[in-house]
Amino acid sequence: MKASLSIVGLAAAAARLAVAAPHRSINGRDNTVATVNLDYEVHQGNLNVTGGYYIFDNIPYAQQPVNELRFAKPQPITATSSTLNVGGGGDLQCIQSYPQWIIDLQARSNGISSELMAQVLYNQAGQTEECLLLNVYVPQKIFAKGDRAKASVLVWIHGGGFTFGSKTSVGNPAGIIARAGLDDDKGGIIFVSINYRLGLFGWLAGSDVTPNLGLYDQRAALDWVQKYISRFGGDPARVTIMGESAGGSSITHHITAYGGGDKLPFRAAIPQSPAFQFNIDTDATYKKTLAQATTESQQSVSSVAGLKSLTTDQLKSVNQKVTQAAIYGGFNFGVSVDGTYVPELPQVLFAKGKFNKGLDLLIAHMPITSEAAPFVPPTIATAADLRTYAEQSLATSSSAVIDELLTDVYPDVMDGTYPWTTQFGRAVVIATELNFACVARYISTAYNGHTHSYIFAYPPAYHAGDVKYEFYNGDASTVVDGVPINPQIAYNLQDTLVRFARKGDPTVSGLPKFERYGKEGNVLHFSDKGVVAAIDDLKNPRCDWIQKALVDGRL
Ligand SMILES: *[C@@H]1O[C@H](CO)[C@@H](O)[C@H](O)[C@H]1NC(C)=O
Repeated sequence: MKASLSIVGLAAAAARLAVAAPHRSINGRDNTVATVNLDYEVHQGNLNVTGGYYIFDNIPYAQQPVNELRFAKPQPITATSSTLNVGGGGDLQCIQSYPQWIIDLQARSNGISSELMAQVLYNQAGQTEECLLLNVYVPQKIFAKGDRAKASVLVWIHGGGFTFGSKTSVGNPAGIIARAGLDDDKGGIIFVSINYRLGLFGWLAGSDVTPNLGLYDQRAALDWVQKYISRFGGDPARVTIMGESAGGSSITHHITAYGGGDKLPFRAAIPQSPAFQFNIDTDATYKKTLAQATTESQQSVSSVAGLKSLTTDQLKSVNQKVTQAAIYGGFNFGVSVDGTYVPELPQVLFAKGKFNKGLDLLIAHMPITSEAAPFVPPTIATAADLRTYAEQSLATSSSAVIDELLTDVYPDVMDGTYPWTTQFGRAVVIATELNFACVARYISTAYNGHTHSYIFAYPPAYHAGDVKYEFYNGDASTVVDGVPINPQIAYNLQDTLVRFARKGDPTVSGLPKFERYGKEGNVLHFSDKGVVAAIDDLKNPRCDWIQKALVDGRL
């Protein structure tokens, strides 16, 4: 869930360069642009000459959520435009907001003050409420064949704690597209990257607003892909969705949408480190939002109708302040159980068999001993500190459950019997298993082991560190959480993702056979030791206990 400032800036610069590069083919025909008729508009794509693909950027996939559509479900576009939409406009993104602890982490890694970091993040270019946009990246070869190409499609749902991030916040898919082109001579993949509403714009949950608007945005974007991707050369029957962190948990919500009684607009999914905030209290966030809006506007704001009457700048400021106040590891905004799209938590729905059963799944998590380290207060040193942390993180759980968690499930034993030897390490395993990792196992067991699963363990193996590997595009100076990237592992991972999206089976020639998860808990393990077959570290009694406790409603 960490934003990288440098990546955001670089991606923007690269996009401008690629668009500006002039190119004429030998026969004189101008191949630098391509157009697609979307019924409601004709959209122009520009060629990335070195990458050999067209970029159709900032395509609207729904009516923009402004005026009376603020805080409403996304609506299909009905008006038609006769003006060619040439995309452009930069990296248009939904309005961003950041918890203080993320601002502090970012400030430290950029060597600037937290105040300055907050300003930089707050003032990022391209933020707009008119953000229901997506990008389509199509290799020239595929585009030339048109709807006969029937290419596989990979859709990226970004992470960022449901409060920040965008369709371009992790860069462009040049690396993935290049690796897909090597897969075989029919080569290639179409890549789609989507925005969805963030913070109060997408995740407010109160009596007078539909919760989880951001999930409906994602769903609208996926429905758009079903309807239009063939016009770019894509096969709507071969769509794989992939997402990390908040993007990964979004995927688990789509798989369990309406308790599984729903035809999904994708065939396969790659949920990566799905992130859940157990400490989130969306009722409290709703109240805080109204209170902050009252302060901000100096008029009484007691409903979503009141919020609707504020200016974008006022809402943006309210949004930032409410997110900023989240506790360490939290974001304040996020998914709420709503009884419809999200009937219960996915962890529970997987246990109860209420999920869509017909998918191919490639599931990722990071090691239980490292993933959550940046999310855990570094000050935890004693058993009492840990208890306080657990109580804060599980604010709605009884002290009896917390006793059980800390006594029986994650006992205070530091002799190496368990995968921790310090209180901080114990907190990391708790936070990792509870917030990110165990759900990966719940999906595989719900699917009777008929899934593929991998652990991304390249040091330091912090949450979301794998994203830069997935989007590696040849810049060997890339650093991931302080450690230089390993290009070979990046290629191995990209090849695995691409192979799965194209063929359903992620085994890559030259790498160990990718066995199904099975009863044994088979995984592939990517690390500084290379890629090896291993057994899942989530095959442990703690993950079982958490799922039972969630089903019982004790957690
Ligand atoms: C264009 O392609 C090159 C080479 O694959 C890549 O390095 C660059 O980042 C791409 N730019 C965009 C905006 O896709």
